[in-house]
Amino acid sequence: METWKGEAVVWRRDHEAGAWIFAAIHDSTLGPATGGTRMRPYATAGAALEDAMRLAEGMTEKWAILGLPFGGGKCVIAVDRALEGAEREAFLLRYGRFLESLRGAFQTGEDMGTTPADMAVVARATRHVHGIAPDGSSIDPGPFTARGVLRSIEAALEAAAGNAGLAGRTVLVQGIGDVGAPLSRLLAEAGADVLACDVDAGRAARAANEPGARIVAPEAALATPCDVFAPCAAGGILTAESAEALPCRVVAGSANAQLAEPAAADVLHRRGVVYVPDFVANGGGAAALGLMESGADEAAIVAKVDAIGETVRAILAESAREKEPPLAAARRIVARRLGERRRERGLPG
Ligand code: PHE
Repeated sequence: METWKGEAVVWRRDHEAGAWIFAAIHDSTLGPATGGTRMRPYATAGAALEDAMRLAEGMTEKWAILGLPFGGGKCVIAVDRALEGAEREAFLLRYGRFLESLRGAFQTGEDMGTTPADMAVVARATRHVHGIAPDGSSIDPGPFTARGVLRSIEAALEAAAGNAGLAGRTVLVQGIGDVGAPLSRLLAEAGADVLACDVDAGRAARAANEPGARIVAPEAALATPCDVFAPCAAGGILTAESAEALPCRVVAGSANAQLAEPAAADVLHRRGVVYVPDFVANGGGAAALGLMESGADEAAIVAKVDAIGETVRAILAESAREKEPPLAAARRIVARRLGERRRERGLPG
């Protein structure tokens, strides 16, 4: 809490469901703080708060890179048991009323541990949910995120291996969830050999149905040789130590906050492994939810998601020119966009 540079965290204890709610508002320079709602168990409420703060910062970076008028925020809900059925619905409605009380200072959508159907319930109690169609149904951002990751992988392969083609490339997808599953399918369609890995064996098996796909044990995720490692599960997986040994040429995936420590990005760069910053690679879902708001049609959304590939190319080119990790180049773009907007709005700093 001492070092976080965000604006505020709004928290609430939901006694009935035994849940802690932390809505972290990181930076509203570009627009209202907007990010997904993550629901899962945490060892302590403090760990959940920390995750919310870190993830909210990633959303600031994601929106700035996309160039869309939203700020960085994230809500983490720490539960000590799975909420199901009527209890889940009642909780989500209370959560919606909590969001409504914030009057749009934090706005949300689905994330790990919540579903588009959950968001449709939340939206019955608040206007501040993105991705809700006029008929009240909700859009799944996962496949859009997957498409943006695919474009990122192609751009990174071009830089690391000389061409963007996926045929015959081995891609290890860690986490076969809302993004990992559609990503595995897209990769298989493009001719890649997919290594599917999930802590839930059933999920891994579903991905392994794709032609050319194989299952890798979760504990082997960071040790299995591949061309591309695509982390699509929880964050915090890359330490300086694990980066030192990672047997791949490209790291590009949808997981938020992949780096456990910034030094991991330096290690990958020194080893010649191309790391596409997570907040660049995983912007497809946010792009879809953000553009829907302004009435964009499917074609415009897909074009915006595909443009992530061009953004990655520009960042990798700048990183090569400046002889610095792609993370540094991406962060400079973020700082420049936030600075420009602050000046336009006459804000200090
Ligand atoms: N949770 C997804 C993400 O982190 C999608 C999302 C984006 C949800 C923006 C809400 C708002 O990008």
